[in-house]
Amino acid sequence: MSHVYFCSMKVTIIGCGNMGLVYARAFLRYNIVSSENLLLAEKNEARRDELQRMNIGRVVITSAPEIGKSDLIILAVKPQDFAELAPKLSGIIGKNTTVLSIMAGITIDRIAGDLNHRFVIRAMPNSPVEVGMGMTGFSAHEDVSLEQVRSVENLLATTGRTVFFEDEKMLDAVTALSGSGPAYFYYIVRAMVQAGKEMGMTEAVATTLVKQTMLGSFQLINNAAKPFDELIKTVASKGGTTEAALFVFENGKMHDTLVKGIIRAGERSAELSKG
Ligand SMILES: NC(=O)c1ccc[n+]([C@@H]2O[C@H](COP(=O)([O-])OP(=O)(O)OC[C@H]3O[C@@H](n4cnc5c(N)ncnc54)[C@H](OP(=O)(O)O)[C@@H]3O)[C@@H](O)[C@H]2O)c1
Repeated sequence: MSHVYFCSMKVTIIGCGNMGLVYARAFLRYNIVSSENLLLAEKNEARRDELQRMNIGRVVITSAPEIGKSDLIILAVKPQDFAELAPKLSGIIGKNTTVLSIMAGITIDRIAGDLNHRFVIRAMPNSPVEVGMGMTGFSAHEDVSLEQVRSVENLLATTGRTVFFEDEKMLDAVTALSGSGPAYFYYIVRAMVQAGKEMGMTEAVATTLVKQTMLGSFQLINNAAKPFDELIKTVASKGGTTEAALFVFENGKMHDTLVKGIIRAGERSAELSKG
């Protein structure tokens, strides 16, 4: 696929709901795919009409034969819709086409088997892809070439950062850490806002304080070459307010509970992949 970089690459996105549309927009924003070379295959008629009006690519149904001429096919349907989709696709995928799946929990082996096609890459994005700040872990079938991996990485990088994993099993950990991660973050933000309200602030004011604190702290983590323990110590002086809060957190085993919860999410991801 090396010769089809950037605008000349023909891409089909199958399933243009939330995520499919995020990718379509990101590819166009970075001129990595042109709208003439972007096929949007969508089952839902009302959604097809909406996509037509957006004028961001050619809108087709899933069995359209031109899908077979794509350099890359992205599977962005819900995992439960894959069984119905696979037989429609298996006959029309081109010999050299790369298939990129973002479906949670469906293994590379299953996709390759059901589509009768080896060039399969599986990615696990997270919801901040919507604002170009996503984190995507991805893995590839052993027959996928380095060139194919690089091409797909270029596309995924239009939505944020990417990390490639040799071992597909690590995608369960990716799911637990960065996939589910935004929800853990919102959970902590929600608790902080509630504490602000209980101390007499309005929700709006408490939310402003917490959001800006999260943003500023992220910048410090990102720029300071200090371990987390040291960063905590810079805020928590002996006998002070932060230490008082940390003491209560530790008594409630908050650190261990968070670690355990995230590991449990990874196990759940592995269970769901087995079906
Ligand atoms: N949202 C996230 O943060 C996130 C993160 C990681 C991975 N993912 C994965 O991303 C995938 C898409 O999620 P989503 O939230 O974008 O789902 P969504 O909004 O429901 O979009 C899926 C779209 O695909 C359509 N569709 C279903 N079967 C089809 C077929 N055979 N051919 C063409 N189109 C078909 C659906 O139509 P109907 O509505 O008529 O069924 C729907 O419009 C899922 O597999 C999910 O696991 C999402």
